[in-house]
Amino acid sequence: MDAVEAIRARRSIGRLGEPAPSHDDLKVILEAAACAPDHDSLRPFKFVVLEDDGMDAFGKVLADAYLARCEEAGKDPEPAKHEKELTKLRRAPMVVVVCAVRRPSEKIPWVEQRDAAVAAAQNVLLAATALGYGSMWRTGDPAYDPRVRSALGLGSEDDVVGFLYLGTPTDAARKAPNDPALDGLVERYQP
Ligand SMILES: Cc1cc2nc3c(=O)[nH]c(=O)nc-3n(C[C@H](O)[C@H](O)[C@H](O)COP(=O)(O)O)c2cc1C
Repeated sequence: MDAVEAIRARRSIGRLGEPAPSHDDLKVILEAAACAPDHDSLRPFKFVVLEDDGMDAFGKVLADAYLARCEEAGKDPEPAKHEKELTKLRRAPMVVVVCAVRRPSEKIPWVEQRDAAVAAAQNVLLAATALGYGSMWRTGDPAYDPRVRSALGLGSEDDVVGFLYLGTPTDAARKAPNDPALDGLVERYQP
């Protein structure tokens, strides 16, 4: 599949099954991420791969963070939401957490470093699509929770850009491409 075909074919699939990207395919996917546009080559990102036991352990981090957020807000935790935090990573056999890692630079502002990490995340989705896998980019409250950041080894100045779910869709779950219509999106500048 060429790049434009992958861009057009990519759709978000909420539940993905086995197989997860193979070891070799994961390397291709993460190398695609590392090739993202990156002003001044700061490499302001890292990728944390969750699978198997690591995924379950990280589900516990998400669930504990949920309980802590409830306590901070003075709200009773909802058992169903707690259970969802524990198990939601299992909606796919692999999750790649794309993190924006702030590098010291007098020239490149944080917003551009974060943009590079966002571009890396999109490269993950496109490379996975090109290799025949399904994917979905998710965030939600855990992406902005300092306890989750800390469990990923991030500092308070870093960000979780997305939890990228990867796996294989059933035939029934596959979706038609998005409509690429440009209506109202394009302007030609006229002085
Ligand atoms: C930064 C970002 C965060 C997102 N977080 C979520 C999320 O937490 N839950 C969700 O259902 N969709 C989320 N989405 C949207 C889906 O990933 C998806 O793009 C959207 O449903 C449109 O479907 P499509 O990708 O097939 O066009 C997020 C998208 C982006 C770019």
